[in-house]
Amino acid sequence: MVLASEAPTALRLTVMGLSFPGPVGLAAGFDKHGTLYPSLPPLGFGFAEIGSVTPLPELRRSHGLDAVAAILSRYPRPHPIPLGVSISMNRKTPSGGMVEDYLACLRGSWKYADYITLNLGGRLGPDLHLPEYRDTLRGVLAAAKNEQARILREHGLHRPMVVKVDQTRGYTNALLDCVRECSFDGVILGSDARKGEESVVLASLERVARTLGMPIISVGGIRTPQDVSDRLAAGAALVQIYSGLVQSGPLSLQRMNYHLVTGVRQERMDCR
Ligand SMILES: Cc1cc2nc3c(=O)[nH]c(=O)nc-3n(C[C@H](O)[C@H](O)[C@H](O)COP(=O)(O)O)c2cc1C
Repeated sequence: MVLASEAPTALRLTVMGLSFPGPVGLAAGFDKHGTLYPSLPPLGFGFAEIGSVTPLPELRRSHGLDAVAAILSRYPRPHPIPLGVSISMNRKTPSGGMVEDYLACLRGSWKYADYITLNLGGRLGPDLHLPEYRDTLRGVLAAAKNEQARILREHGLHRPMVVKVDQTRGYTNALLDCVRECSFDGVILGSDARKGEESVVLASLERVARTLGMPIISVGGIRTPQDVSDRLAAGAALVQIYSGLVQSGPLSLQRMNYHLVTGVRQERMDCR
């Protein structure tokens, strides 16, 4: 019988100043409200992203910030694996209220998070990658950075912040330029790649990794242990999975971690 287990110590790594037991994490959307979080470390997850959280509840999508904060506040620190909180805006918020939505979520969740993700790749909201949102987006990114600086000033804590963008949509490069200018701590590069498009995704990831100069978390289409090592080899510091977990079950983490550990051992022997 194969039993799930925590990520092996050989996979431990530090990214954005945080210690990760392993590089494979849970993508946002699976544990929207943080209720599953305590059961994730024993399965081999290296980190988990809760949310996306919106300020107000939304039918079938979000219980709202207050409900999620109440759940996350029960988990003792230090967390066994880094806990990211993905924040977003309510669907009905007009673009003029976007900054306030993101700020409200940031202010209400940073205490419970090890890092914060600004989800700009949401499928349900407006396509924030479109040029007409560029100024609004700059406003959101700048306001979030100001808030990060305030947290550091007033609480002495640097809370890493990453931005999730969709690599397969247009205008991603302009968006990444904004992220770089604002000096975020990292980027989640998502894609809706279908089977057979892996080489395109890898090439795009390699290109962004060469030029971006900050840690990349790759997500989208990662199903097999080989997919994980391919993304890491292409320049991702960490990866996230969602559909692969649904399709292959919770032991997929065990298989991915085992594959990485044997690769790590081989690499060490090759260096001798
Ligand atoms: C049902 C569902 C809900 C999702 N909800 C969110 C969400 O709330 N926030 C977010 O950033 N991504 C969300 N995602 C996107 C995932 O985080 C991930 O980027 C995407 O599923 C691609 O990864 P995969 O190929 O491993 O599934 C959702 C995905 C699915 C399938």
